[in-house]
Amino acid sequence: MKIARFSRIGFIMAAAGSAVGLGNIWKFPYITGEYGGGAFVLIYLLTVLLIGFSIMTAEMLIGYLGRRDTVTSFEELAPKHKNLWKFAGFQGLAGLFIMIFYSVVIGWIFNYVVTSLTYLPSTVGEAETTFTKMLHADFWTQFFYHTLSFVVITYVLHKGLKGGIEKLNMLLMPALMIILASMFAYAVTLDGFSKAVSFMFSPDWSKINSEAFVVAVGHAFFTLSLGMGAIMTYAASLEKNANIVKSAFWVAFLDTTIAIVAGLMLFTFLYQYGSGPAKGPGLVFISLPAAFYEMGIVGNVFAVLFFIALAFAGLTSSVSLVEPMVQYFIDRFCWSRLKSTLLVGIFFWFFGIFAILSNIDDTKEYLTWGSKNFFDWVDYVTAAIMLPLGGLLMAIFVGYVMPRSEVEATMRPQLKWAFALWYFSLRYITPVAMFVVMLSLMGII
Ligand code: PHE
Ligand code: NA
Repeated sequence: MKIARFSRIGFIMAAAGSAVGLGNIWKFPYITGEYGGGAFVLIYLLTVLLIGFSIMTAEMLIGYLGRRDTVTSFEELAPKHKNLWKFAGFQGLAGLFIMIFYSVVIGWIFNYVVTSLTYLPSTVGEAETTFTKMLHADFWTQFFYHTLSFVVITYVLHKGLKGGIEKLNMLLMPALMIILASMFAYAVTLDGFSKAVSFMFSPDWSKINSEAFVVAVGHAFFTLSLGMGAIMTYAASLEKNANIVKSAFWVAFLDTTIAIVAGLMLFTFLYQYGSGPAKGPGLVFISLPAAFYEMGIVGNVFAVLFFIALAFAGLTSSVSLVEPMVQYFIDRFCWSRLKSTLLVGIFFWFFGIFAILSNIDDTKEYLTWGSKNFFDWVDYVTAAIMLPLGGLLMAIFVGYVMPRSEVEATMRPQLKWAFALWYFSLRYITPVAMFVVMLSLMGII
């Protein structure tokens, strides 16, 4: 069997496609709004540089050297303790769990692409009613678009690494960048732009507390797709002699740039046409459509383009969330790609239905435990426990279990001090930060 490998640019596009997702365009702007802007952005940038980049290279390294699905890769790189470390490989499950709600949210976005063609809410209040009506009362719309997202994702994955994943990313990533760049160019011409810049870049340290810190670290992690084997699985198909440090740099750079461009653009629109920097998850589904309404007909065009870009970002992340488990079943159980993709896809499609039902008024009481419904529980368990745990294990694995000489030989560092700094961060800074984030998100500290 011929093994498919990413081309050099194909890998960067695929990994960047994984990283650039709902996290950049939907979540980053609203948490920046919530935690007061500039100071938060600064902490986030520092975290990406110090912690995110370290784990990204570590994760690429494990995949690149292991060359197999995540479970087998850990086994091969730690032959003496393989039964222990293979559990780190089961992090791939986190992606499948994330898909349970990620697919539902992509469904909402599909729905907004279609409705924005002809309708935009004239006030924030109306926008809120529209959104909550869909969320709490309209099961069938959500079901239909969630199923559509399942069909697209499984179709692309069954086409394989080159013909499916690489092709999708080579197409959608440039399209996404063009859409965002043209909308950004328009935003720059508006008066609201300078307000958006000062909101995002002038730090107000009074807003920063330990919670903002934890959220920034947690987000830096989620936004770079770390801790669950997505990047690792892609890196297993990197061509020989690839430059890991360079690739990791490009992925982190694109992810950060797109988050900041999206943030500046959205805040400009909200200053210019809306109610200022909105807070909370409703930002793109509630405040933004109302701002688009104020732009007149341009607003409809922008709304449709914006939701298309968001859908593209979500789809390219989705395939990377599912691929680790698809690869696992192909490698370990010798399943065909089609069978593996279908079964893994049906899993998230099926539980996704319960994620929808857990928001519907008539059914939510059966799907709520404690303060959270099923949808929120899946989000919480993956973000607060599984991803930080995955990052912690990967940092420990590369920092302590793998021989330093092997790590250094693969990284081929040009600057000795940069390697030493990276290695130090992996051994001491990152594990501590991950541990603290995990405990804090779990409510223990
Ligand atoms: N990085 C993606 C985002 O920002 C989410 C994601 C997390 C994708 C983990 C893959 C793996 O939306
Ligand atoms: Na991201």
